[in-house]
Amino acid sequence: MPDTTTLRDLFIDELRDILHGERQLLKALPKMAKAASSPDLRQALQSHLTETEEHVARLEQAFDLLNEPAKTKVCAGLQGIIEEGSEAIKEHEKGVALDAGIIAGGQRAEHYEMAVYGTLMAWAKALGHDDVAALLSDTLEEEKAADEKLSELAEAGINEAAASSRSGDADDDDDQRDEDDDTGREMATSSAKGRDKTAKSKKSKVRSQK
Ligand SMILES: [Fe+2]
Repeated sequence: MPDTTTLRDLFIDELRDILHGERQLLKALPKMAKAASSPDLRQALQSHLTETEEHVARLEQAFDLLNEPAKTKVCAGLQGIIEEGSEAIKEHEKGVALDAGIIAGGQRAEHYEMAVYGTLMAWAKALGHDDVAALLSDTLEEEKAADEKLSELAEAGINEAAASSRSGDADDDDDQRDEDDDTGREMATSSAKGRDKTAKSKKSKVRSQK
């Protein structure tokens, strides 16, 4: 029978898990940025890549503070989210609709990370590691800001343009985004409003698509 598991054991395990996830994101974010058509989206993904490098560094620092080796454990959750994102990039042509899909995939990853860092921060505090909690809190705030930035981009025009784009529009999406300011607004707004409400159902949707 295994030894009794302590909260510290689970904490170290989860830190290893998210370290693996963050390193996977270091590889995925440049691919997402390359696939994005919107310069603003590309820029947001690139700046989150820089932040993600810092997230890895903070986790390594946390392991140091805990006197534990910075080992990784496969993060199946983020691996699945990243895999679905890269499938979408492979299966769809570059353009504004794919941009909306890239945002959706990016937000799925951010929400996953927000859940992980929120829990880990609470566990760090409960275990008396306020120094580690502070590191995790800095990362949590950046994940939240990245998620909000993606929402902003979706609501500021990408969803609208995607809703009114037609098949084969990939090359002139930027022009169309300017011209079709009002088209599809209703659909985009309802999609934006529904985002929070559907956050829970997203996971089951992801499952049902597999
Ligand atoms: Fe991160």
